Amino acid sequence: MCRNFVILLFIHICGCKEVFDFRDKNKGSNCDVVYVSDSIKNGTITSPLYPSPYPARTICRYEFQGKGKERVQVVFQEFNLYHPREDNRDCDNQDALIAFVQIDGRMEKIDTYCGSTLPKPVMSNGPRLKLEFHAVSGSRYSRGFKAAFSFIQNFGIKIGVQLPDYPCAFVFNSNETRSGYFYSPNYPGFYPRDTECYYYFHGNQGEKIHLHFNYFDVEGVFPCEAKSASDYVEFSNFVSQDRKYEKHCGQLEEFDIESDRRFFRVTFKSNDRLDGTGFNATYHFLDKVEVYTTRTDITSQTTNIKDVAISTITLLFILIGILR
Ligand SMILES: *[C@@H]1O[C@H](CO)[C@@H](O)[C@H](O)[C@H]1NC(C)=O
Ligand SMILES: *[C@@H]1O[C@H](CO)[C@@H](O)[C@H](O)[C@H]1NC(C)=O
Ligand SMILES: *[C@@H]1O[C@H](CO)[C@@H](O)[C@H](O)[C@H]1NC(C)=O
Repeated sequence: MCRNFVILLFIHICGCKEVFDFRDKNKGSNCDVVYVSDSIKNGTITSPLYPSPYPARTICRYEFQGKGKERVQVVFQEFNLYHPREDNRDCDNQDALIAFVQIDGRMEKIDTYCGSTLPKPVMSNGPRLKLEFHAVSGSRYSRGFKAAFSFIQNFGIKIGVQLPDYPCAFVFNSNETRSGYFYSPNYPGFYPRDTECYYYFHGNQGEKIHLHFNYFDVEGVFPCEAKSASDYVEFSNFVSQDRKYEKHCGQLEEFDIESDRRFFRVTFKSNDRLDGTGFNATYHFLDKVEVYTTRTDITSQTTNIKDVAISTITLLFILIGILR
């Protein structure tokens, strides 16, 4: 009785009968779910009735509760929400899926997905993530969405050897792999907030580490300091900081960077606001005599880089000979 009165009063004040109507209807068809990592480590979520069209005027909440170092990663497999205009990224008042993570104890919105562009993977900055599906209109052609979720401790980084005693650290040994690639947490999705990851490269005596960044989008402004609220990537010849290298942030063209000796540390650090899609880079352990020769393809490179280097040098001598 009292509640009805409040609703009527509310409708009267803001004229938003729609909002209240569909909230009430939604109470019956409850599609809210909570996943707790103690009982399930991975699975699939979908919009109601998937792959049939989802009903209009529905709100579903998908909550993920991990523990300790766990992060939640959601990887979308299909995404097809009703949107009155093709290719429109404006999600206001449209059917949409909204992602929230916990920042300073509050659930904060980090992203909104609408239309039919497949969203990139999303990852929480801590053990909790919430997705909210708001179906305002729907249509008989909109199938909704399907996504895989998992509680993980590797930040979506499936390369190198993860060090168990660190929040996020990965080791690359020249003994195990002479070359390969490495990337930021949750790549190619937005990296999570408040996250620090180390990548340690260990070469043998006389070796150096050469890195080639082929994609770089780390939110920040030069000189990439905490003062300017910048996320950054940092390089070091030591286990601690190394003033020789500038911090890197922003959207950068491809670039190369090399260690002085057999050890190199790459640090990725994000703060509690604004995100980028991170980086993807290749690494090569080089012998003393080797020179890094442009972008060799990784699969054939391990055995060939020495030959390439030698033939480059030979060519150089021939050229010098001709020029004389
Ligand atoms: C999902 O979790 C199960 C164990 O709970 C595991 O065997 C399986 O490999 C996992 N699948 C993926 C895709 O991670
Ligand atoms: C690589 O292997 C050699 C011989 O097995 C070992 O002596 C050396 O310590 C290893 N180097 C690294 C960086 O693990
Ligand atoms: C990073 O780039 C390499 C080489 O361009 C590519 O093979 C690899 O799939 C990329 N990594 C990821 C996680 O997308």
